[in-house]
Amino acid sequence: MTDTEHDFTFAIDGKSIPARKGDTILKAGLRAGVFIPHYCWHPGLTVAGNCRICLVHATKTMPPGKPVIACATQAVEGMEVESDGPRTKALREGVMEFLLVNHPLDCPVCDQAGECDLQQYSFDYGRATSRFHEPKTQRPRKDLGPLIRFVGNRCIVCTRCVRFCEEVAGTGELGVVGRGAMSWIDTFPGVQLDNPLSGCVADLCPVGALLDRDSMHTTRVWLLRGTESACGRCATGCNINVETWNDQVRRLTPRENQAVNRWWMCDEGRLSYKEAQAPTRVRRARVDGREASFLDALTRATDEVRKAQGGVVALTTGFATNEELFTLKALVGKGPIAVAYAPDGSTFKARDGFEISRDKNPNRKGVEAVLGATDAGEAAVIAALEAGKVGLAIVHDGVPGGAPWSPTLLAALKKAAALLVLAHDDVPGAPAATVLLPAMHWTEKEGTVVNGGGRVQRLRAAVPPTGDARVDLEVLQELARAAALQPRVLSAAGVFRKLAAAAPLSFDGMDYNGLGALGVPLGEGRAARPASNGRALPVVDARTGYEAGPVSRAPGRAGDEQVRVSVHRESAVGYGTPRGDL
Ligand code: SF4
Ligand code: SF4
Ligand code: FES
Repeated sequence: MTDTEHDFTFAIDGKSIPARKGDTILKAGLRAGVFIPHYCWHPGLTVAGNCRICLVHATKTMPPGKPVIACATQAVEGMEVESDGPRTKALREGVMEFLLVNHPLDCPVCDQAGECDLQQYSFDYGRATSRFHEPKTQRPRKDLGPLIRFVGNRCIVCTRCVRFCEEVAGTGELGVVGRGAMSWIDTFPGVQLDNPLSGCVADLCPVGALLDRDSMHTTRVWLLRGTESACGRCATGCNINVETWNDQVRRLTPRENQAVNRWWMCDEGRLSYKEAQAPTRVRRARVDGREASFLDALTRATDEVRKAQGGVVALTTGFATNEELFTLKALVGKGPIAVAYAPDGSTFKARDGFEISRDKNPNRKGVEAVLGATDAGEAAVIAALEAGKVGLAIVHDGVPGGAPWSPTLLAALKKAAALLVLAHDDVPGAPAATVLLPAMHWTEKEGTVVNGGGRVQRLRAAVPPTGDARVDLEVLQELARAAALQPRVLSAAGVFRKLAAAAPLSFDGMDYNGLGALGVPLGEGRAARPASNGRALPVVDARTGYEAGPVSRAPGRAGDEQVRVSVHRESAVGYGTPRGDL
């Protein structure tokens, strides 16, 4: 916040804090980089004020001299807050002691260990010893819904999950049952926690009481490596971390982007990484129906491009990246391109504006921006095929489960002299290819897509292609090289640079790295704020700086700089890593 953007200042531990009217001590402090611990507060939810870990001492409060909760106390001009003094330390020790009275302290077997706010604050603010000898209360452990397990003994009754279901999902399945030390969270009778955003409660839970049943008990969280990407399951394009272990995706978690998904993602998107592990996945190359090495298949494909001498048509989908589309367009030259879109699916509008798009194509807007109008594409491709003028038809089908090609188009494809298919899945009805190559899942490739709101966002490869396969963009560029259309294969950044130069109305002024973790709206490349390195930054202030998951999840794994941890060599063997290094 600049000097002109604040209304007044107050002080936390002697540091001057700029604030706007209505700011609480906690909100203004966090914005200014002063951390005050909190469990129940979240910027996307109403204030509950029930966990008390944010207690501070402050002047100008009523009654004077009593501690106040920073999450619900408005800052006022000239207020002096003590957040890091001996009195506050004693308060936090007391709150932590109460919270741990009935907590099982089962960190060694808890999935949240390593990203648990209770664990972290216990280390930061708790007492070193326990004074509690009595038996602990026992609360239920049960599945609240298809995606969420509840481990009641760990619950600190912060009610984040209850407020999320009420205020964001709008479905209100959860409530607090029981009283005092015997209160816990449960669904209402006969109701399951089964709304389209139910997985978000596991992200929001600051402790290990709500677990994602899909990823629980699979990987210790400190072994996960995070890659900042965007979900490729629908046109919303939620910002996510693709979290991997041993070159396998283990879970997807949301990242904050106020211009796209706030702090949330849907359950369908959360589980969509499994598409890449489907048994129908094309994993090996084939030439004339027989398995071949990737290199042999690629060599045959490049031979076919040379033989076709410009007689090339292409079929692509709303799943192709902008860079793939741009290269495909260069490959066909003046030839036609047909585009198949995945059919519409279900939509959901949350109460806070987050929306699951009905459009299940992550890059429909990118197709329009790179290829222009494609309505007549299919008829033109069919006409060229029927006229016997096609030396090579390139089918770029990266849709999990197969793209919905029309039967007429599939019938016409038989008339191409050669057919190169890049397919994600080998499904009944797929075109019979001269050369079949595996197409990458969106978690396996680099590139940009444009979401339904017109925001250009980066997909990042979180796991490598299987076997000897190469990513789609490399394959398409190898074909372009064989056709003498480009001298060498470029990175996605290099192709994007060419695209930005060639499509001035939409991608003008955009820089691949400048798209950053949050993307830039189409057409706003030049308007984006210049950063110190001269690159464009997003115009929209897309972050409050508050991450989607527990506070203690935020700093470590979310980034291109993937976290590496060191464990004893023998432990590494036990974890099953082939490399012995983690
Ligand atoms: S289950 Fe988690 S989020 Fe829900 S009230 Fe308990 S601690 Fe809070
Ligand atoms: S709303 Fe769409 S983009 Fe977001 S997580 Fe769900 S499927 Fe993915
Ligand atoms: S964060 Fe303030 S009372 Fe919970």
